[in-house]
Amino acid sequence: MKHLKKIFETKPKSEYVHEMFDKLAVDYDLMNNIISFGRHKFVKKHVIKNVPIRYGMNILDVCTGTGDIPLFIAKKFGNSVKIIGVDFSEKMLEIARKRNDKYDNAEFINADALNLPFEDKSFDVVFISFGLRNLADLRKGIIELQRVTKKGGYVVNLDMGKPKGIAGCMFRLYFYWLVPLLGKLFHGSSEPYVYLPESCESFPAQEELVRIFYELGFDDVKNYNFAFGALAQQIAKV
Ligand SMILES: C[S@@+](CC[C@H](N)C(=O)[O-])C[C@H]1O[C@@H](n2cnc3c(N)ncnc32)[C@H](O)[C@@H]1O
Repeated sequence: MKHLKKIFETKPKSEYVHEMFDKLAVDYDLMNNIISFGRHKFVKKHVIKNVPIRYGMNILDVCTGTGDIPLFIAKKFGNSVKIIGVDFSEKMLEIARKRNDKYDNAEFINADALNLPFEDKSFDVVFISFGLRNLADLRKGIIELQRVTKKGGYVVNLDMGKPKGIAGCMFRLYFYWLVPLLGKLFHGSSEPYVYLPESCESFPAQEELVRIFYELGFDDVKNYNFAFGALAQQIAKV
């Protein structure tokens, strides 16, 4: 955390994150496959399966990156749903748009997660995957997701969790030592992969996130752990 604290003294978090993802964009998918052994795709598909998506729904994916969630949904549900992915990194969006060569029910828009360009109650389901942790203000981010979700709809978060016991020790070893090394080796810079574990330190554990969702007025908040709690999904009803 020391490293990030120092950086954020001279640069706002949003600016740092924006620049980092612009630089990382071309290697983002490759690096995700390497550091998760390809498992991130399986988890994302499972996360989508856990949500009651139905015909005619309007879906939003905030901090969409290279568009995994919208593209998996577009593939699974076809034209029966409409999905928009938003991100503030144009470089990430360029890749998302390039990958989207088949689905005209998925579109990608440049926007800030903390100031979404949508009317209140526009979407049935709003996803955010590995995005919340990167926002300058976690609560403001959740409130913005809640604002654009219809009453009775769902906000769905997937992010790093905090595994306990032996799994937690092994995970921390991997995350703090091996992942930055893999970043250096395959991306040519360990910077984003030093940021990754450090950004998790100040990010609430899954149990705490569930509490925050309730505190902000959500109902029926469910948590699903993956990989012994190293990853966690919350589904919160608006
Ligand atoms: C770790 S990536 C996650 C990408 C994708 N959702 C996934 O699961 O692979 C985080 C993304 O959040 C975006 N991001 C971070 N802060 C943002 C903000 N305030 N507004 C919009 N996008 C943001 C970054 O540009 C980056 O593409």
